[in-house]
Amino acid sequence: MSLIIESLNHQISDGHNQRKLLSDLSLAVGQGECIGLMGDSGSGKTTLLNLIAGLEPIQQGQITLAGVELAHASEQQLSELRKKQLGIIFQQYNLLSSLSVQDNIAFSARLAGRYDASLCRELARQLDIQSLLTQYPLTLSGGELQRVAIARALSAQPKLLLADEPTGNLDDNNSAGVVALLVKLVKSHDTALVLVTHSHHVAGKMDKTYQLADGQLTIISKVV
Ligand SMILES: Nc1ncnc2c1ncn2[C@@H]1O[C@H](COP(=O)(O)OP(=O)(O)OP(=O)(O)O)[C@@H](O)[C@H]1O
Ligand SMILES: [Mg+2]
Repeated sequence: MSLIIESLNHQISDGHNQRKLLSDLSLAVGQGECIGLMGDSGSGKTTLLNLIAGLEPIQQGQITLAGVELAHASEQQLSELRKKQLGIIFQQYNLLSSLSVQDNIAFSARLAGRYDASLCRELARQLDIQSLLTQYPLTLSGGELQRVAIARALSAQPKLLLADEPTGNLDDNNSAGVVALLVKLVKSHDTALVLVTHSHHVAGKMDKTYQLADGQLTIISKVV
């Protein structure tokens, strides 16, 4: 298993009131498995990804990532995990504006100590961004940024890729293309994927999709 979540509970506070966001939530993601995550705005999808990435402290329950139990991991272990086992595509891409596309793609691989120039070139070819390699993020379109963010996340060969609405700014046609490519790439690297999306069409490309509502995950059957 790449990821095991057991009886996760998470409360948030808006100053005075506590609200239960995640309630006894469990999930298992196998190696190379592609999981879709849907749910209303504010239902807790990004929070769940942040918890999996060790970016927010676990209040109650267990998350085990690549064999490491996050609640008991030191800051150093968490940072090693994030560098070496995890790829993250954030809702806002988070590309480094002072680095060229090429250096953005190499960045996470270098951080993981796994820089492989031929893999970076191959990813750029597969994602059709070779002509953009010397440009800077500010000069790219939304769809181009999306593809660069995917290349950057995969260049470090993570065991698990978390993607928060990676096609949120694309039209249906483009997002279908990007997601099909993303699935092909993660399958060929045996990387597991947890992908947040509001699109049933995108979710249909995943092996399984869950709906997050009232703090719990329910499996939803394929629509396409
Ligand atoms: N650190 C925090 N402290 C308090 N409330 C928070 C915190 N982080 C998120 N929230 C609240 O938790 C709820 C869930 O937020 P989250 O970002 O996880 O939702 P989401 O499902 O990703 O929504 P969207 O689809 O709009 O991205 C929201 O009501 C948000 O305001
Ligand atoms: Mg979100």
